[in-house]
Amino acid sequence: MEQNLTFPNNFFFGASISSHQVEGNNHNNWTVWELKNAHRLAQGSEFRKDWTPVWDEIEKDAKNPKNYISGIATDHFNRYREDFDLAKQLNLNSLRFSIEWSRIEPIEGEFNQEAINHYHEYIDELRKRNLEPFMTIWHWSLPVWFEEKGGFTKRKNIKYFTRFVEKLGQEYKEKITYWITLNEPRIYVSESFLNGRWPPQKHSILTYYFTLMNLRESHRKAYCIIKKYCPDSIVGIAENVASYTSGMGLINRLTRKLFAWYELRVIRGYNKYLDFIGLNYYFHRHIHNFNVTKIAENTDKVSDLGWDMYPQGIHSPLVKLKDFKKPVIITENGLADKKDIHREWFITETLKSVKRAIDDGVDVKGYLHWSLTDNFEWDSGFWPRFGLIDIDYKNDFKRTIRESALRYAEIIRQTSVDH
Ligand code: BGC
Repeated sequence: MEQNLTFPNNFFFGASISSHQVEGNNHNNWTVWELKNAHRLAQGSEFRKDWTPVWDEIEKDAKNPKNYISGIATDHFNRYREDFDLAKQLNLNSLRFSIEWSRIEPIEGEFNQEAINHYHEYIDELRKRNLEPFMTIWHWSLPVWFEEKGGFTKRKNIKYFTRFVEKLGQEYKEKITYWITLNEPRIYVSESFLNGRWPPQKHSILTYYFTLMNLRESHRKAYCIIKKYCPDSIVGIAENVASYTSGMGLINRLTRKLFAWYELRVIRGYNKYLDFIGLNYYFHRHIHNFNVTKIAENTDKVSDLGWDMYPQGIHSPLVKLKDFKKPVIITENGLADKKDIHREWFITETLKSVKRAIDDGVDVKGYLHWSLTDNFEWDSGFWPRFGLIDIDYKNDFKRTIRESALRYAEIIRQTSVDH
């Protein structure tokens, strides 16, 4: 029999997006980097062959440099009202978005009133539709001038970030209750300063560590600034936490524990300055003989990006986060699935596991699916399709709700009927 999927009253059912991935026409450290790296990324895309089950379908896009240039993205900057209407059609009651720092402060110390007003209107349009705004202050993209100063790698640069947060506090204090300071600082420092995949492509454990510490400090300061302007605000951070299993034997088990411990250790650094924890759940990792694989023994399903699909796994980080004694909001969870073959199953199984975690005493307040629409997936570009809503890039960015999204809408409808 179908498990009863009734969620607590006032549960947030929503979706997430981020400025750089959808807005279009940005000018930030990513857009600069994309222009320099698009050819390299296209030429080096062959490695995907071993990862993605849909290589034949995506090969052409993956080998096309244009795929790696965000350009006008989904043109959300101009079409956001349409996107909000679609979110409403899906019965969503919340939307997580991010403010683009490079729009608000394109030149150091000079705030752009037009951009500030844009987000005022944007938030008003969300509120008009009863979509609770979850505002992320920083989702990875940086103004070019800030990157040129060394960005978050330098302690002395934190003051630029806090000045920006002050501005946001002054401007949006009456409009925003839910603030998310930073998106996945640990993933950002890994990809930008350790693995060297993202701008500024460094390989340095020291820079990794110091940048992570600077982001921690930035979060703490941002938290205090937001509280100064809006004492009733609810402020959190979004971090990526995986679920883990391991092969037999002591070494495998210890390695698994170490990985899991480290992820939580990073969150502990923010904990005194958190009203809620934002969980981004994507990965299941299986540890076996010094190998970290994304493929669990008990699943053979992978997404278009070759990521393990293990929706049940979300129960494990949720239960671990209980130790922090803070409410949890799932700020991201989703999969690249262009043909929409797995998404319905994935969402249903995820929500079943979230419900199980709530029944086990975890204070989960919401689930925001990644993503509302297809978008620009960083160094993978446009071909991975994470959207509840398909974007036809070749046909005037036509938006079409995917079948799986209707199932999500139905679960939301059902839970509200049950109350
Ligand atoms: C990021 C998103 C990204 C998603 C899928 C998350 O870690 O916050 O920006 O698109 O993963 O890769």
